[in-house]
Amino acid sequence: MDQQEWERSPLRLNLIEDSVKRAQAGVSKIIYLPQTGSTNQVAVDLLAEGNSEFAVVTDFQSAGKGRLNRIWEASPESSLLISLAFKLNAITNLGWLNLWAATIARRVLMENFNFDITLKWPNDLVVATPDAFLKFGGILSEIHKEHVIFGIGINYSQDHSELPTSISTSIKLQNANFVAREFVIADLISNFHKFWNLDTNCNQFPAKAIMREYQAASYTLGRRVVVTLPSGKEISGIAVALAENGALMVRNEKGEIETITAGDVN
Ligand code: BTN
Repeated sequence: MDQQEWERSPLRLNLIEDSVKRAQAGVSKIIYLPQTGSTNQVAVDLLAEGNSEFAVVTDFQSAGKGRLNRIWEASPESSLLISLAFKLNAITNLGWLNLWAATIARRVLMENFNFDITLKWPNDLVVATPDAFLKFGGILSEIHKEHVIFGIGINYSQDHSELPTSISTSIKLQNANFVAREFVIADLISNFHKFWNLDTNCNQFPAKAIMREYQAASYTLGRRVVVTLPSGKEISGIAVALAENGALMVRNEKGEIETITAGDVN
């Protein structure tokens, strides 16, 4: 690995725009802010001003938001920090939005980098190790009236000392081949647009193929898990299946099925 390749510098918006244009995915607006509080919050404000479909990218967030009211922190220029807003159209299976986004993000990252990515329910991008997992990305989906915002956070070039927990990693730490941040971001933006347009114009969202792809990539299904619910209650058992609405079905110690729509799975 050539260390210089991963050196940090501000995003070059023109590279992102040119690359997205070449992909012809019909993306109209990309907003780059050298730094901001949270790209998801910027997206909320832009929607409130009447904008509809756009991407927001930044080099640094001072108030990045994670799932379950956590914070999402990353050193300047070390990460992929993107929020994408889409019109929900007629989608009713909202529980699958998270899982759909994780499936597309995984697909794009696997095409760019040479390591295997699995998905910890609902939408953590993780690398499986023999006895655990290492997380390097996550998605925070937020619904605002007629739109969904997909907030994508991916650890790109962090070293061990910069990572928030002992079970975190970055793309660079996986000895991945080098792809400049701008090209990965452009690929994520283009593919989210392309597949959003395709997948939301089908008879059924999500398509059966997406459900199968998510299940095949799942780190969680088939494993013994402990789920911490937002209330703090813990459920232990085996993750046996996904419900129609994307919820996780866990067979608890008594043999009963518990259906979980939100929680932290370990
Ligand atoms: C998670 O908790 O795993 C989801 C993390 C999502 C973080 C991203 S970074 C870009 C966007 N803006 C935010 O404030 N959060 C999301």
